[in-house]
Parts: sequence; C-alpha cells; structure tokens
Amino acid sequence: MKFEKTGDSCDISNKGKSCCSTTIETNNEVNFKEHWDKAYLNSPENKLGWYETDLSPMLKLILKTGLSKSARILNVGAGSTTLIDKLLDIGYSNIIATDISEVALKKLEIRIGNKKAKYIIDDLTKPSKLKNIKPVDLWIDRAVLHFFTEENEQNAYFDLLKSKIQNGGFVILAEYNLNGAKLCAGLPVYRYSKEMLTEKLGNDFELINSFDYTYKMPSGAERPYVYTLFKKINNEYVK
Ligand SMILES: C[S@@+](CC[C@H](N)C(=O)[O-])C[C@H]1O[C@@H](n2cnc3c(N)ncnc32)[C@H](O)[C@@H]1O
Repeated sequence: MKFEKTGDSCDISNKGKSCCSTTIETNNEVNFKEHWDKAYLNSPENKLGWYETDLSPMLKLILKTGLSKSARILNVGAGSTTLIDKLLDIGYSNIIATDISEVALKKLEIRIGNKKAKYIIDDLTKPSKLKNIKPVDLWIDRAVLHFFTEENEQNAYFDLLKSKIQNGGFVILAEYNLNGAKLCAGLPVYRYSKEMLTEKLGNDFELINSFDYTYKMPSGAERPYVYTLFKKINNEYVK
C-alpha cells in the first residue's frame, strides 16, 4: 500500500493528492484496516477531515426518535467521534461503538472509559462479531456507508443492518449527497440521495425525516451531506 502527501484537493481527477487531511490511496488492493488505522495515527483527532464540533444535525434526528435513554444504540464506523461523549452527557446509557480501526476505537475508549460504552472492532462489509450482537433500537452512521463503493460491500452492510434493527427501531444514515465530493480520506465515495437510501433499505423501513447539511471541515472546505432518519415498520399486517 502506498500513501502520497501533496495538495488539498478532494476531486477524483486529482488521484494521488491529499484529501480530508489525509492522503489518497493509490493502490487498488487497499487494506482498509491499515488505511484507517494510519489516518487516526497520523493526525490529532480535531484535525481529521471529518471531525465535528457541531453535532446538532445528528442530535436533532436522534431526539426525533423519542427513544428512551436506555435504548440500545449502535454507532457504526464510530471512529473517535465526540458524538458518544455527547450521548453519554445527555443520559443515553446503552451505547456500542464499532469500527474497523482498532486505533480509533482505542482512542475513544481511552477518552470515555471502558465501562461507559462497549467497543467492537469489526468490518461492516465482512462482519463477524457484529453478526452475534442482539438487535438494536438505533443504528447511527455518519460518513461510513459512502465508502462502500462495491455492490457486494453495500449488500453486506445492508444485510447486517436489516438483521440488527428491532421492529419499531430507527436508522440514521448521514452520507455525502449527490453534490458531495467524490473522494474522502483518500478513498473514492459512493454518494447518495434520500431516495437511493430509501430504496436500499426496502419496504420494511419508512423515511421519517431528511435534510441536506453542509459540513465544514477543519480546513474550512465544505462537504454536502444528506441526513436521513428511517423507522423499521412491522409489515406483517400491511396488505
Ligand atoms: C470519515 S470517518 C467517520 C467517523 C465517525 N462516524 C465520525 O462521524 O466522526 C469513517 C469511519 O468509518 C470507519 N470504517 C471504514 N470502513 C469501515 C468498515 N469496512 N467497517 C467498519 N468501519 C469502517 C473508519 O475507520 C472511520 O472511523
């Protein structure tokens, strides 16, 4: 695997240049675990291209679910996000953070402590430990699904998701929208509209709320996202 460090562009035509405060992967055979571990090792958390100081768009959707503070929440591709700190502050007490990067989860665990949340290292596109967890009330994904550019990766992700949401449970997906950049963290991304996400989730999920949101990176660059909240409905009685 080869990394290059050069300019500051996030356009696919600039393959080989830096993006999102890290570098663009130049080898087709990407070792994703290694890629993400390096990203978290090479940069202070608050300089990462996806670091957030304003969590309000995500919190708005989480509060809209009306879930109790003991709800089982799974933050996928959590990295070292401060969303977990915020959820604990608000009073949510049953949180699982999962990520492919051991480095990221270790940073999170050191900051938060190993008693306040659970941590699972796993690959969402080839899940092993995640297959064995009990269903959750809320699945949260910010800036993770859009890295899965291959159909088999997307299918594995949605199969896992669909098998792990309780009836009446919720899913929040916040991904680069169709106006978003084509690369992030040195990797190509697959951009979404709310219609595309609705189709991927299928008939058992109802779109409750969605909005576009422009995230400002620590560098000042803007990245347009689509935020979506879905509810799992019980279709058994629907004719
Ligand atoms: C752009 S970061 C977003 C991190 C976090 N969700 C946030 O909003 O700060 C993408 C995250 O997805 C994780 N990730 C990428 N591919 C993954 C995979 N196949 N399985 C699990 N996590 C993955 C990365 O390690 C990284 O932490």
